[in-house]
Amino acid sequence: MKIIDGKTVSAAVKDEIKREINDKGIKPCLAVILVGNDPASTVYVNNKKKACEYCGIVSRSYELKEDTSEEELLDLIEKLNLDKEVNGILVQLPVPPHIDGDKVIEAISPLKDVDGFSKVSVGALSTGAEGFVPCTPAGIIELLKRYDVEIDGKNCVVMGRSNIVGKPMAMLLLRRNGTVTVTHTKTKDIKSITKNADILIAAVGKSCLVDADYVKEGAVVIDVGIHRLDPEKNNGKKLCGDVDFDSVHDKVSLITPVPGGVGPMTIAMLMKNTLKAYYIQNK
Ligand code: GUN
Repeated sequence: MKIIDGKTVSAAVKDEIKREINDKGIKPCLAVILVGNDPASTVYVNNKKKACEYCGIVSRSYELKEDTSEEELLDLIEKLNLDKEVNGILVQLPVPPHIDGDKVIEAISPLKDVDGFSKVSVGALSTGAEGFVPCTPAGIIELLKRYDVEIDGKNCVVMGRSNIVGKPMAMLLLRRNGTVTVTHTKTKDIKSITKNADILIAAVGKSCLVDADYVKEGAVVIDVGIHRLDPEKNNGKKLCGDVDFDSVHDKVSLITPVPGGVGPMTIAMLMKNTLKAYYIQNK
């Protein structure tokens, strides 16, 4: 078993971006919007701002009150769509329940949709056209690439069908000639499917669900989940993923740890998408 070191790969990607920005003397800019003060979202947003600073990307931060109206948020997005200095716009999800998240996503100009969540971006990904790819699945492809994992002709199983991870992940693997199966909450006998996976992507949102019974000998396992644990009840462990690492680690060939696997890659790919947005807007 070998560990896929997302921290090191993420640092390498960010260093490449930093060098490129520095060499070209350009100033890409990302606008990050957070509505409310959900603690997990606040941490994610702060990490995104830190990564921008590291890479030489200007970050503009908009921290809006929990009771901000949908109209106010849509007005801000429209203003940022028109602002020539701003290359990428990101609204941290989820937004509070009184705001329609789909409306927010669609309000962002497709040219600045660095999350790749809009219908234009999803359509581009599905048809193979040029566009923004969601950061988490894009980061997973980057990890597989840098660890020389072949996708072509392999059985790839994606557990989970969210718009943010599962669905775009399946499309990206399919684009690279993987034979892709997506499992979800209504799938019968999930283990019989995951046991055939050469590449298994766990994005189910359930802590430690995937144990040795789910995986094939020698599989590559990518763990997208992140869950907080009570260290007193878990031998001092504070975090775990969707995969029960201790149960599967002797059986697999490669695996991403939690933390330090997929998580850092998401942010690195956001930096990459912001740079791409800059080039699209400054052709
Ligand atoms: N919430 C959880 N993941 C993401 C993400 O990738 N982008 C945004 N904007 N919000 C999220």
